[in-house]
Amino acid sequence: MLTWGKLLDDKDIDSDRDDEAVRGATLGQVGDPAASASTVLAAEAAPSHQRRALISRRRRNTISQRTHGEFTRSAVSHYDLVMDLFLLGRYQAFIEQAISRMDLRQGETILDLGSGTARNIDVMLGGLGPTGRVVGVDSSQDMVQQAQQRCHAYPQVAFLTQRIEEPLPFHAEFDKTCISFTLHSLEDEDKERVLANVRRALKPSGMVWILDFNEFDLDRQWFPFRWAFRRIECELGIEFLSLDLRRMLGDHGFGRFVTYPFLRNHVRLLGAEKLNGGSDK
Ligand SMILES: C[S@@+](CC[C@H](N)C(=O)[O-])C[C@H]1O[C@@H](n2cnc3c(N)ncnc32)[C@H](O)[C@@H]1O
Repeated sequence: MLTWGKLLDDKDIDSDRDDEAVRGATLGQVGDPAASASTVLAAEAAPSHQRRALISRRRRNTISQRTHGEFTRSAVSHYDLVMDLFLLGRYQAFIEQAISRMDLRQGETILDLGSGTARNIDVMLGGLGPTGRVVGVDSSQDMVQQAQQRCHAYPQVAFLTQRIEEPLPFHAEFDKTCISFTLHSLEDEDKERVLANVRRALKPSGMVWILDFNEFDLDRQWFPFRWAFRRIECELGIEFLSLDLRRMLGDHGFGRFVTYPFLRNHVRLLGAEKLNGGSDK
């Protein structure tokens, strides 16, 4: 099990090299020999737990070409501003409302997968009090750096730079897991891996909260919305609108669903409880 101290130490790991290696793996797919050599070199130079992740990523070659979920460095530095502009300045109020539904309690431990700039974590800390703890996981070193800056005054928050569909070092230690606007950008097989990770990381009866696009028929939406959504969202994001996420969660041993719709039903907060009896794969 990764301890709190170990997580904090991991902040020092140089994962730019990992990013290069991961991108190398993608380039390798289209036959760039230099890229695959750099992948191997970077993997060899990395600490062993990262090496495993890099090598398995290279073998599986699964960074999808159908996602926009991985951001460039400049997109990262403007991420919060862009979200504010999208919602005409109401983004902060929206996430405060959504997080207030998660029933966070003083002293709880929370895992935030795809934690981005830690804007959500900042809000969550209000509900958790000084004894609560949060771990944010994100594959982007730039996002993690911004998140660390935002949370530098909170020793009870730690970050891990890792892909959330790779095995996570947590077992039955979190009360709640939150995944906000990240699941839709993964291929279904990776969503399944994430949900298996979530189940393993949660304590018995722990809750997963997924804040993401709701199920709706894009073709029946108002034309400007439909047009903008198609321009902005990736292929996987559009497919997500017809995904039966409850069924997928049910297959991973979650139930007792709760749903809160937001933004004219286009977004939902879906909560599901880890049921006893299923197995942690
Ligand atoms: C749209 S942002 C959402 C950030 C944050 N959850 C929020 O709601 O403000 C998606 C985040 O997920 C991260 N991400 C995308 N795919 C990932 C993966 N496979 N593993 C880990 N993080 C991932 C991105 O780096 C980015 O920070």
